[in-house]
Amino acid sequence: MEKEELKKLAGEKAVDLIEDGMIIGLGTGSTVEYALRKLGKLCREGLKIKGIPTSVHTKRIATEEKIPLTTLDENPVIDITIDGADEVDSNLNLIKGGGGALTREKIIAYNSKKVIIVIDDSKVVKCLGIDFPLPVEVLKFGWTATKKTLEQFDCNVELRKVMGEEPFITDNSNYILDCEFERIGDPAQFEIEINSIPGVVENGLFIGLVDEVIVGGKQGISTLDKEAVV
Ligand code: 5RP
Repeated sequence: MEKEELKKLAGEKAVDLIEDGMIIGLGTGSTVEYALRKLGKLCREGLKIKGIPTSVHTKRIATEEKIPLTTLDENPVIDITIDGADEVDSNLNLIKGGGGALTREKIIAYNSKKVIIVIDDSKVVKCLGIDFPLPVEVLKFGWTATKKTLEQFDCNVELRKVMGEEPFITDNSNYILDCEFERIGDPAQFEIEINSIPGVVENGLFIGLVDEVIVGGKQGISTLDKEAVV
C-alpha cells in the first residue's frame, strides 16, 4: 500500500470515535485531512458536533467541508482531539510541528479529555529526534540570539524557510527554528528546558498528552494506547 493509503486508513478510523454533541479538536496535516474530509461528510449527513481548528489551514478545510466551528474560548473543554505527528515513541510521546502549527496544537491537546494521534507506520521511532528535527516556535525579536542559545544543546539549528527563500511565518506571526539532534534522550526534561529559554514560544515535544495512536500499516490498522505504556 502507498503511504497516502496508510494515512487515509488511520485518519478515517479515528472518526469512528466521534459522537453527537462532542466538541472536537481538529489537528493539522495531511493525515488529519483524511479525518476532516470524512467528518465533513458525516456532518452534512446530520452528525451534530463542533470543531476547533488548530491552524488557519485546517480552518479553511473545515469551512470547505461545512464542519460547524467554535473556539477554545467559547468551549474550553474539548471531548476528543484528532491530530497527526512527525514522530511517536513507545511512551506515546511525540515530535510535532512539521506543519508549523505546534503551539496551537499543544494548547488544544492540553485542553482535551482524549487525544488521538493518526499516523502511518513510518512515524513510529525507538527514540525521538532520530528522523525528524525538533521544531521550536520563537519570537521574531532576537531570533538569532535564541538560535545561538538552542545551539548550546548540541544540535544543528535552521530557520525554517518557504521554498528556501523567505522565513516561514506561523499562524501566530512567529518563526520556526528546526533543531536537528542525533537523538533526544530525555524528552520530558528537554521540553521544560527548551521552553525556559526567553524568546521560545513553544516546542514540538508533546509529553504525556496522548491517549491513543492509530497507526496505518501494510497489515491494516493497529493502535498503541496509554494503558499499554509502562
Ligand atoms: C503540524 C503537525 C502535523 O500533525 C505533523 O507534521 C504530521 O503531518 P502529516 O500528517 O502531514 O505527516 O504537527 O504542525
